[in-house]
Amino acid sequence: MKSNIQDTPLNKQLFGEDFIWGISTAAVQIEGAHDADGKGESIWDVFTQKKGKILNGHHHHIATDFYNRYQSDIDLIKQLNIPNFRFSISWSRILPDGTGEVNQAGIDYYNRVINYCIELGIEPWLTLYHWDLPHALEQQGGWTNRAIVDWFTEYVAVCANAFGDRVKHWMVMNEPSVFTGAGYFLGIHAPGRKGIKNFLPAIHHAVLCIAAGARTLRGILPDSEIGTTFSCSYIEPYSAKPRDVAAAIRVDALLNRLFIEPILGLGYPAELTVLAGMDKYILPGDMDSVKFDFDFIGLQNYTREIVEHSFFTPYIHASLVKAEKRKVPITAMGWEVYPASIYHILKKYDLYPQIRKVYLTESGAAFKDEVVDDLVDDPKRVEYLQQYLQQVLKAKNEGCKVEGYFIWTLTDNFEWAEGYHPRFGIIYVDFETQQRIIKSSGLWYAGLLR
Ligand code: NOJ
Repeated sequence: MKSNIQDTPLNKQLFGEDFIWGISTAAVQIEGAHDADGKGESIWDVFTQKKGKILNGHHHHIATDFYNRYQSDIDLIKQLNIPNFRFSISWSRILPDGTGEVNQAGIDYYNRVINYCIELGIEPWLTLYHWDLPHALEQQGGWTNRAIVDWFTEYVAVCANAFGDRVKHWMVMNEPSVFTGAGYFLGIHAPGRKGIKNFLPAIHHAVLCIAAGARTLRGILPDSEIGTTFSCSYIEPYSAKPRDVAAAIRVDALLNRLFIEPILGLGYPAELTVLAGMDKYILPGDMDSVKFDFDFIGLQNYTREIVEHSFFTPYIHASLVKAEKRKVPITAMGWEVYPASIYHILKKYDLYPQIRKVYLTESGAAFKDEVVDDLVDDPKRVEYLQQYLQQVLKAKNEGCKVEGYFIWTLTDNFEWAEGYHPRFGIIYVDFETQQRIIKSSGLWYAGLLR
């Protein structure tokens, strides 16, 4: 493999014997087979059919065809020496209508995936909700309907009973701030709802479900390791002006604290006046029942955000100063490459004594990749991963309780509203032929983990 990347000075021993190394994926982004074998419709099946929602009209109907190619893709995980594989369960494959009748073919499919991982000595890590709500439940209000706590609990129990004899590591939910913010406030992700009247109940019900799901898992599987994951970006003010500093504090509360603090028993961040109308969704006893003592918290970091005061932005009165405008290095998503972000995030969450342990359950970057002579050399991604990992090591050496790192992601895949344009994989996918090519970054990771 041609590559201009030097051998990494990083060495996995520096992170300690017990450090967890892995790779992360999500059902909608890889599986395809959107209507196969009794699967019900999810909100993404409906959303991607609407005009203008997904860049270039892309959809996830085939994606990387992982549903049919799981064996050869798990073989690649093995070939890259990656010991832990994080993937998500599609709720509507298991319960096509969201509740009620179980689809045995869906259970069988995940059993095949789990069993194949175990056969190859790869540890499966399951995410229960990575944004694909059954459409039948959305028709009843989805995340805005408090009944979702019962629907979700039922789904979690089915999964725990079906897979818990072999799966030891569970994540209840992935990045609630993104699916509520993009899906129920901005309308740019499924189900495409907008406005504060959708956003506030979706937030509170997601918080209730995180704790209810975790309690259900612990009840059925007392020995399993239970976590949940949050997106987090390091936030800094654009200037030292008090208005910008205050704006940065609000954005930090919205992006980094809104979901985790109630779960840790700290309530919703008081800085967020946007939550003023939340009271009507919070019933007596709720703030006690949203507390859960997680075995681990999954943090997912990609970038930092620079924030300035903005008079015209409703509710939050703050806006992000785009990386492009700041003339800093960016990824294909337009996100700033800022390795120290992951260090600051680890330091920040280390200040919560309630958090027992942190795994970085996603970290990675999209860059424009090209196939040349059947090879994909992606030095920028290698450099990104090396630099972010150096910062993880720095935080760990300073005593932060970080005990694992999962790269986002195995193969290029369906990047939600951005379609197939951003390539995040350490394995390249030709979406016409479904051919895979291990990128230099994949070979680099394999070398690190050897
Ligand atoms: C976080 C999400 O969990 C994942 O689905 C997404 O593809 C990556 N970030 C990159 O945007």
